[in-house]
Amino acid sequence: MLRAIGSKVDLDKNGDSQYYSLVADLLESDVVNEMKQYTHHGNTTCFQHCLNVSYYNYKLCKFFSLNERAGARAGLLHDLFLYDWHTYVPPKGERLHGFTHAGKALENVRKNFYVTELECDIIEKHMFPLNITALPKYRETLVIVITDKVCGTMEVFAYRGLVIKEFFRRTFRKKSVE
Ligand SMILES: [Fe+2]
Ligand SMILES: [Fe+2]
Repeated sequence: MLRAIGSKVDLDKNGDSQYYSLVADLLESDVVNEMKQYTHHGNTTCFQHCLNVSYYNYKLCKFFSLNERAGARAGLLHDLFLYDWHTYVPPKGERLHGFTHAGKALENVRKNFYVTELECDIIEKHMFPLNITALPKYRETLVIVITDKVCGTMEVFAYRGLVIKEFFRRTFRKKSVE
């Protein structure tokens, strides 16, 4: 079952069908599913992170009467850089992952899918203000600037919560055995 972090809505075929209908072709593509191989924040994969951002982009864009289709699709594709950034060693002269991955993701997206100018802007500039020169041109891009950071933070805290829970579980199990 596909779910975004903090939500109980089923996002696959049988769930929120309006959301699913906007991204069905992407969810079924091999290149998007390849993101399941790479860890992003904590124990969250790139795929799950992109699904989280995509769903909340969709909800917020809909709420503010913006282009929810572009928000959902570009959200699902915004981190399609296709490597594990924890172990990636940039070649000499290349800037750090945080500065370069949005451009790499857009390159991969263009190779695999048709994307609108608005979707390109959302993907390319989602790291603003880290990439200070990549100024968002559309309101939908401002939405992803927020959802990306909020989802990333939730993913890290969810992972830390699991680690703390496991620590207490082991500690108290030990004591009850002693
Ligand atoms: Fe990113
Ligand atoms: Fe992201």
